[in-house]
Amino acid sequence: MQTATIPGYTYGTDEAATSPLTMQDLERLKAVVGLTEDDRQSLLEAADILADQADDMVTEYRRRLGELPFMRPYSGHPDGTPDPQYSAASKPRFDRFIIDACTRPLDQDWLNYQQEIGLRHTRAKKNATDHADSLDHIPMRYLLAFTAVVIATARDYLAAKGAPPERVDRMHAAFTKSVMLHVTVWTRPYVDAANW
Ligand code: HEM
Repeated sequence: MQTATIPGYTYGTDEAATSPLTMQDLERLKAVVGLTEDDRQSLLEAADILADQADDMVTEYRRRLGELPFMRPYSGHPDGTPDPQYSAASKPRFDRFIIDACTRPLDQDWLNYQQEIGLRHTRAKKNATDHADSLDHIPMRYLLAFTAVVIATARDYLAAKGAPPERVDRMHAAFTKSVMLHVTVWTRPYVDAANW
């Protein structure tokens, strides 16, 4: 996947937001989610297996969201009709996230881009990258609740290349921790520092 050719993907650049979190905040969160060096290894294995499936995973995620009429105005037009341009423009970045979540070092660039993704789900920055007219804020409750679908769905994809079940379990556990870590950091723009 060529990151340079993904419009709006500003990972590691000055255009991404600056995270209000410190590396110590990140270390503590990693400890709480239980992400270990073994998990990092399992995530690298997962990246190989998911590399050519990420786009299908995102298609499935979106299909699940599309089944719920009240969710459609957040990714389509405000009246719930589809916005193929917005979907197509934002999809490569979501695809890239699947692999980034398995491979990116957890450093300052990582922190900054997670802040950026969080902002892009809120009225601070949603729609801006792709000039969409969709509803401008995804309620935090839906961001959190949808994490269950993102995590549960991943298992079949991790198993799709014939890895033994115990290896699939390890990769799935590591992927679960990684997604929880990401989404937790994405909630930072939703609340003030004291409550977060
Ligand atoms: C755990 C749950 C979720 C994950 C893992 C996730 C992941 C992502 C990622 C990686 C991006 C691309 C960010 C970027 O690099 O620009 C994105 C953007 C987006 N997501 Fe989510 N998302 C989640 C929940 C939701 C929900 C519940 C909705 C509701 C419809 C949603 C709608 C969108 C939309 C519309 C965008 C484009 C935002 C923009 O205008 O820049 N997401 N999401």
